[in-house]
Amino acid sequence: MLQPHVLSVCHVLVLVLCLSAAEDFDWTKNHRGSFYYGTFPTGFSWGVGSSAYQTEGAWDKDGKGMSIWDVFTHKKGKVIYNETGDSSCEGYYKVKDDIALLKELKLNHYRFSISWPRIMPTGIKSDHVNEKGIKYYDDLINLLLENKITPIVTLYHWDLPQVLQERYGGWQNLSMIYYFNDYANLCFERFGNRVKYWITFNNPWSIAVEGYETGEHAPGMKLRGSGPYKAAHYIIKAHAKVWHTYDNQWRSKQKGMVGISLNGDWGEPVDITSQKDIEAAERYIQFYLGWFATPIFNGDYPQVMKDYIGRKSAQQGLGTSRLPSFSSQEKSYIKGTCDFLGIGHFTTRYITQKNFPASHGPSYFTDRDLAELVDPRWPDPGSEWLYSVPWGFRRLLNFVKTQYGNPMIYVTENGVSEKMTCTELCDDWRMQYFKEYINEMLKAIKDGVNVKGYTAWSLLDKFEWDEGYSERFGLYYVDFRNKNKPRYPKASVQYYKRIISSNGFPSQKEAENWHRKAIETCSSSNQLLAADPLTSHMEMVTEIVVPTVCTLCILLSAIFLMFLLRRHN
Ligand code: NOJ
Repeated sequence: MLQPHVLSVCHVLVLVLCLSAAEDFDWTKNHRGSFYYGTFPTGFSWGVGSSAYQTEGAWDKDGKGMSIWDVFTHKKGKVIYNETGDSSCEGYYKVKDDIALLKELKLNHYRFSISWPRIMPTGIKSDHVNEKGIKYYDDLINLLLENKITPIVTLYHWDLPQVLQERYGGWQNLSMIYYFNDYANLCFERFGNRVKYWITFNNPWSIAVEGYETGEHAPGMKLRGSGPYKAAHYIIKAHAKVWHTYDNQWRSKQKGMVGISLNGDWGEPVDITSQKDIEAAERYIQFYLGWFATPIFNGDYPQVMKDYIGRKSAQQGLGTSRLPSFSSQEKSYIKGTCDFLGIGHFTTRYITQKNFPASHGPSYFTDRDLAELVDPRWPDPGSEWLYSVPWGFRRLLNFVKTQYGNPMIYVTENGVSEKMTCTELCDDWRMQYFKEYINEMLKAIKDGVNVKGYTAWSLLDKFEWDEGYSERFGLYYVDFRNKNKPRYPKASVQYYKRIISSNGFPSQKEAENWHRKAIETCSSSNQLLAADPLTSHMEMVTEIVVPTVCTLCILLSAIFLMFLLRRHN
């Protein structure tokens, strides 16, 4: 997700030196020893999340068209071990099983995404609408509602129809706005009588930066310093158009809400007494969350982005800024197009000022003039970029409150991964992560931040983009070696369940009890999982060994018969 190369060992060492030098800098403020016991407001919504490409599998089944991720993952060298989402968790075939897991957790909502090419194979409505794909989502939505689970539906979790990429260049082309609007309109028409929470885009920062700057994600383009800004520009416009479509055509009948899900790490100044570091940290957040949130809530890009990218573009001899601009009409069309804000948050960085001369060439990363650092003492159980820094969450939520007029917030992603090799279901570190991050969210609510719901990321272990299956974010472990993709609960299932049923953390005594009980139950799940190779082995016996032995027997009998016949003659 984040660029690991920016976190050089040297930076880490510098940070340690800084911290020991600045003794009065209380960076652990709000962190250790300040757990807040209390409960969430009544009606607070608890959920888990997933996304289509990461879990569904069935990449070419029942008339589904190809997405940019199908094509990207089938090219060698794009994903770790060349893994693909072709079958992933086989979620397409396991709707009932997965809803049983949601029920087990006693959740209020489930966040999932619709695969655009599954319901519109080329991405273009006039070409073809795939009724089998529509039926799949219809059934999923109906089953959720029958089980009293509210669907929160993302329209775009990165799987653009490949035809739109090939024909128009994907998010580098203005026409995406109109195709996306047609697709969203079809979703409102077919599902909107039952779906009341719509998210237009998931984490557009990743789409822009990883899809069009670094090329680590599909469509794998490296249009440094311009591609990401252009992609973001069209995504923001597409979001606004879809919001207006809903507002004009569907809102009065369907009475739902349309939001966007933005991801953002918190950026903390390395030295809080240095004005330069304070400004650098602010820039970090503005180039991340603010890039999308400021136009949507306040009508234009953050001033600091306009200044920095404009200045660097001029120094690079360009006549206009690499950051596109909105006309005044567009600004007012975009401003206020968010009924609720989805926040995806995982981690924090320390930020310090660092100048990158314009001669380095155009790049999103150098446009910001900053360096990211981490504290080596922060726990990092899984993904390289994901350090557990709970206090950053409260700060980010408060930042959203003050910058964007205290909008209604749903936390749409928050969670932690573990390493691939880890088949340990007693996920202590995940329980700890959830406990502390959820507690910081509770503190933020006490600060007055308008958070209405929380979505743990994610229900299942699944395809983790360019990291393949090597990073497991699930509350449920998925055995990918077994073609039935069985799910096993990790201890965090029990722990999260307790938080949900108590609507928070009523008392220290209880919360400690939850931890002990969760650890007790996970050891029996561990035994089940340990028995799994046996199941796979048994499958191999029935699928490969038995037919082979039978064929050999038939062959031998035939040879023996021939031999007997010859002798007889
Ligand atoms: C954000 C993405 O939206 C999601 O798909 C991914 O699994 C998480 N980050 C973790 O990397």
